[in-house]
Amino acid sequence: MTAPAPTVPTPPGPLILVIVGGSIAAVKAPSVLRRLRERGAQVRVIATDAALAFVTELSLATAAAHEVATDTTWFSPRPDAQHLTLARADAVVVVGASADLLARAAGGHASDLASATLLSVRAPVLWVPAMNEKMWTHPAVQANAETLRGWGHRFLGPEVGAFGTAGEGSGLGRMAEPEEIAAAVLALLTPPVPQDLAGLHVVVSAGPTREYLDPVRFISNPSSGKMGFAVAEEARDRGARVTLVTGPVTLPDPPGVTVSRIETALELRDAVLNAAQDAQIVVMTAAVADYRAAEAATEKQAKVAGDVTVTLTPNPDILAELGREKGERVLVGFAMETHAGVERAAAKAGRKNADFILLNYPTREGTAFGGDDNEVTLVRPDGSHEAWPRLSKREVARRLLDEARRVRGTAR
Ligand code: C5P
Repeated sequence: MTAPAPTVPTPPGPLILVIVGGSIAAVKAPSVLRRLRERGAQVRVIATDAALAFVTELSLATAAAHEVATDTTWFSPRPDAQHLTLARADAVVVVGASADLLARAAGGHASDLASATLLSVRAPVLWVPAMNEKMWTHPAVQANAETLRGWGHRFLGPEVGAFGTAGEGSGLGRMAEPEEIAAAVLALLTPPVPQDLAGLHVVVSAGPTREYLDPVRFISNPSSGKMGFAVAEEARDRGARVTLVTGPVTLPDPPGVTVSRIETALELRDAVLNAAQDAQIVVMTAAVADYRAAEAATEKQAKVAGDVTVTLTPNPDILAELGREKGERVLVGFAMETHAGVERAAAKAGRKNADFILLNYPTREGTAFGGDDNEVTLVRPDGSHEAWPRLSKREVARRLLDEARRVRGTAR
C-alpha cells in the first residue's frame, strides 16, 4: 500500500488588528473576530472606552481568544509600547467606526490607544463606519473620510438599512455584515491575480458521464468534478473566458463561467467540440466512460432469471478527436493509472496528440476522485515528466495553466 503523502504545511494566517469604536454596531465586533479566525487569521483587538459601553471586554476576548487592549492596558506598566506592538499587524479593520474616531485619526491624534496605534500603522486599513445618516453625511465627517482615503485607507459602507438608534428608523448608516467585513479586510492582503489569460477562451470538461442501459440505469464513475471546476475558476480569475462542460456533479455553477451540464459521453463530445472551435486551451478532466450500451433500451428493463448480457460499444475519444485537428490549441488530458503510469501516460499523450497529461493515482487516499487535493505527475509525449507534491486541486489548476501558457509561448 502507498503511504499517504504529507500535505504541504499551511503557513500561519495573517495577523489582523480589529479596532472597535463607540457605536451600537460594536456589538457585531465579536462576530467579525470569529469570522476572521474561521478564515485562518490571527486577531488582536483594541476597544475604545466608548466601545466598551456597547460591548463587553469579556465577549471580545472570548471571540478573539486573546486579551483585549484598552486605554487601561495602554497606561498600565508594561515592557512594550502597546500601540507600536499592535501596529505590527498585517492589516487593520475599524468596526463600528464612529464620527469621533474618524476625526481623531484624520486629525493625527494620539490621545488614546486606538488613534495612537492608527498613527503607527503602515499596513492597509479598512474603515467600517456605523453612524446616523445625518452625522455620516455632514461635511466635517465626509472631509475626515476623504483625508483618510487620501492616505490610502479603504472604506466599507455604511449601508442603507435599519440603524440601531431608537426612533431614527432606517437610512444610510448601517454597518456592513461581519462576513463581508472579514472577507473585505482579508482581500486587502491578497495580491491581485495576474490577468495572464485575458483574451483567451479556455474550455474545461469535468465530472463523470452516464451511459444509460435503460431510462433508469446507467454506467458511471465517482468523479466529483472538483478538479475541472478548480481549473475553470482559476482560468476565470486569470482573465480567460471560460466554458465548463460538466457531467452530473453536485457542485454549483461557478460565477462568471459559461456552464453546460450534460450526461452522456456523446453529449459531452458535442458540447466540447462546439466550444473548442474558438478555444486556445482545452483541458479534459472529465472521466469519460469508455463504453456505452450498443443499444440503450427505451423502456425500463424487467428483471429476468439468470445472467444478463449487455453489449457495450466504445465511446468516441474526444481528446484524440481534438488532437487530430489540433491547430494552435493547447490540449491537456488527465490519466488515471494504477501501474507503469509515466510510460502509459506518455504513450497516451502521443497517441492523442495532447501537449501534456497529468497522471494521477486512484488509490492514493484524499486525492483524485472526490478529494480536495491531488497528487499528479506532469507527463509530456516525449516521456519527460515532473512529479508535483500533494497540492490542493486549485494549486494543481494554477500550475497546469502555467504549463499551458509555457506551451503556448514556445509554440509561437
Ligand atoms: O484513455 P484515457 O481515458 O485514460 O484518457 C484520459 C484522458 O482522455 C482524459 O483527459 C479524458 O478526459 C480524455 N478522454 C476523452 N474521451 C474519452 C475518454 C477519455 O476525451 N472517450
